[in-house]
Amino acid sequence: MSTTTPPPPANPHGNVAPPPAPAPSNDVTLTIDGQSVTVPKGTNVLEAARTLGLDIPAFCYHPGLPIVAQCRQCLVSVEKNPKLQPSCQQVCGDGMVVHTTDKQSALARQQQLEFTLLNHPVDCPICDKAGECTLQKLYFEHDNADSRVDVPKVHKAKAVDLGPTVVLDQERCILCSRCIRTCDLVSGQHQLDFANRGDHEILTTAPGEQLDNPYSLNTVDVCPVGALTAKDFRFTMRAWELEATPSVCNGCATGCNIEIHHKHGRAWRLVPRHNAKVNDY
Ligand code: SF4
Ligand code: SF4
Ligand code: FES
Repeated sequence: MSTTTPPPPANPHGNVAPPPAPAPSNDVTLTIDGQSVTVPKGTNVLEAARTLGLDIPAFCYHPGLPIVAQCRQCLVSVEKNPKLQPSCQQVCGDGMVVHTTDKQSALARQQQLEFTLLNHPVDCPICDKAGECTLQKLYFEHDNADSRVDVPKVHKAKAVDLGPTVVLDQERCILCSRCIRTCDLVSGQHQLDFANRGDHEILTTAPGEQLDNPYSLNTVDVCPVGALTAKDFRFTMRAWELEATPSVCNGCATGCNIEIHHKHGRAWRLVPRHNAKVNDY
């Protein structure tokens, strides 16, 4: 049998037809901190970095929610771009070169963290979120310094009853809006909103509303700090004392994936477990 490649077909004028154009790729390849990574088109830089094991700090970003890029904690440098970019909002481009540890972006994130902490109580020893709090983790990783503020901090309400299941500590809220977006998107009800401005801005219930939708407790799950606590769990157990067992919710036929957090033979809380095919986040 012959192994020679057949010649390309000729058109009616005897010219050889050009080879077919390659199918457009659905991937882009970029470099983050010197490492090459290929991701599907549309992926943001923060998620691309996570595939490399690089954990860019983030507060307002949640993979299951619309992106608002308002906390600015995830700023990175992108070559050929004069301004730092929020990596949660920056879509990956082919050939893009990103730096997350350069002096400029590291300083910006440190200053942003200090800004977020300006009026924060940092009362971690009595906070239910201690041990699983993004702000506490970043504070100890990146700053861990005494406050430079030499005027009294702005105080806000410590125990606001938002509805039947959730309590808000307004001082601990970092105004990331994850809870607002969760209500808007998941339950389709605008029950939470921001009020006031500047350092007096607070999270509160929307006019005429209370937080009573069936997914209210998911706001506690998405809150990156200890601002929202579940009435049936707050002040009961320390997060690090609980053991987690993967399970499936038996509340209805959907079969949402959950973790049962238990101790001493008792289930203390149920938290969502990611499963893209059933319940997403
Ligand atoms: S929200 Fe986080 S940083 Fe703030 S007091 Fe609670 S554990 Fe500490
Ligand atoms: S309560 Fe939590 S989730 Fe809601 S805006 Fe404040 S920090 Fe964000
Ligand atoms: S996580 Fe990117 S701006 Fe908040």
